Amino acid sequence: MTSFDPLVTLAYLCSGVCFILSLRSLASPVSARKGNFIGIIGMTIAILTTLIASPLDTARLFAIALALALGGTVGAVIALRIAITALPQLVAAFHSLVGLAATLVAFVALKSPQSLNITLNPGSLLEMAAGAIIGAFTFSGSIIAFGKLQGLIPSKPFLFPLHYTLCAILTALMIASLILFSINVNPTLFFLSFTIIATLLGILLIVPIGGADMPVVVSMLNSYSGWAACGIGFTIANPALIITGSLVGASGAILSYIMCKAMNRSFISVILGGFGGETSTASASQNINDSQKTIRQGSADDAAFLLNNASEVIIVPGYGMAVAQAQHALRAISDLLKSRNIRVRYAIHPVAGRMPGHMNVLLAEADIPYEDVLELDEINRDFPSTDVTLVIGANDITNPAANDDPSSPIYGMPILNVEKSSQVVFIKRSMSSGYAGVDNTLFFRDNTMMLFGDAKDACDNIMRGLEAL
Ligand code: TAP
Repeated sequence: MTSFDPLVTLAYLCSGVCFILSLRSLASPVSARKGNFIGIIGMTIAILTTLIASPLDTARLFAIALALALGGTVGAVIALRIAITALPQLVAAFHSLVGLAATLVAFVALKSPQSLNITLNPGSLLEMAAGAIIGAFTFSGSIIAFGKLQGLIPSKPFLFPLHYTLCAILTALMIASLILFSINVNPTLFFLSFTIIATLLGILLIVPIGGADMPVVVSMLNSYSGWAACGIGFTIANPALIITGSLVGASGAILSYIMCKAMNRSFISVILGGFGGETSTASASQNINDSQKTIRQGSADDAAFLLNNASEVIIVPGYGMAVAQAQHALRAISDLLKSRNIRVRYAIHPVAGRMPGHMNVLLAEADIPYEDVLELDEINRDFPSTDVTLVIGANDITNPAANDDPSSPIYGMPILNVEKSSQVVFIKRSMSSGYAGVDNTLFFRDNTMMLFGDAKDACDNIMRGLEAL
């Protein structure tokens, strides 16, 4: 059988439909589990079809089974042990493997086309080159992204003199190698040449990007890894790779766009880098003058008193809630408040935490009803009529500087307008800034009460205070 055997094509089509339905279901927390399950079915169909359709001897089957067992075990162990806050770097690490795989498959297709049952022509050479270049770029770029997010290399933007000139020269050399490769002049040499240059470009173009933009970069690299797989899918005439590659490529691009929009960053400014470094921290700190620097600090009992006397409460979770795993303690507080006829809702910013949907996953884990969880557009207008807003481990997504300070690096980013509620209770451990490295003017407002401490401990203490009332 070949990849274009009608039955094989039909099976691949079924797996493609499963992936589309899976993406559709993953769009909502209500159907996300189902979406995961449909995705697993699609992948199982794709793998089994590939195995059945390929003429494999026992030795190769054994090698594939071994690779599947090893990869599956490592994947399962990582999935069970990974902290949800470390998911962005895990995703970056996985993308580097997708890029590497695409490049290696392209090399095999060049050196041994008969083993993949294909014949090479100028068109397939170009597809192969595209897959290899994007794959090599994704491989090295994702390793740099992983290093920055994991704190293994400094997350601040890094540019050396003539950085972009060097990038331009390398790009010109890569294009020249690509042209010589596609007209069949010493293909092995020029394949290696553009692959090595693409690997270098992956490093040089990701290194200048600051840590604050890194999750967007990871999402962009996710998109690139999809297009690399898609290119290789064309080369080896595999419809499943073409479909899945395009789905990953397109969804990654859409996600990058959504993230850029929610952070008010343009795609180009992310690529050019420079955000999230020391400069933005310094300039933002200067924006709060000394006369503003008095805060009102309160205790958990004060917070309990405020909450108990409210009719409308909005809870704004952020990265700190994820770190402290405070979602269950938070759920206990909301249940108690609701039992006292206080309306409690949750406001989710699109980039709260460190990845899209981060907060939704945690709140769903604590069985917080979906109808209580509202997106920024749905709830922002309700803050002026809210008695108490409880901000728990969130910072940048509430910073009014995004609305009223044009010199702030986050100016223009849509924020949750929590400062408009009658009282704001801020749970965090210190006065330090959030991910963007920008001081939050909200801490110094008259209607803000700071409650310092770990988010989970603070919630437990508030709960005790509420029970005592
Ligand atoms: P941040 O602005 O990063 O603020 C989190 C706050 O949590 C910190 O100020 C920290 O203050 C506090 N915190 C940390 N650990 C805590 C703990 N154990 N207990 C209590 N508080 C704790 O988070 P955010 O408001 O969720 O905003 C997200 C940021 O990430 C934005 O800048 C966004 O642009 C960026 N980002 C997000 C995404 C996605 S897709 N979500 C993608 C790219 C970038 P202390 O140290 O004082 O406790």
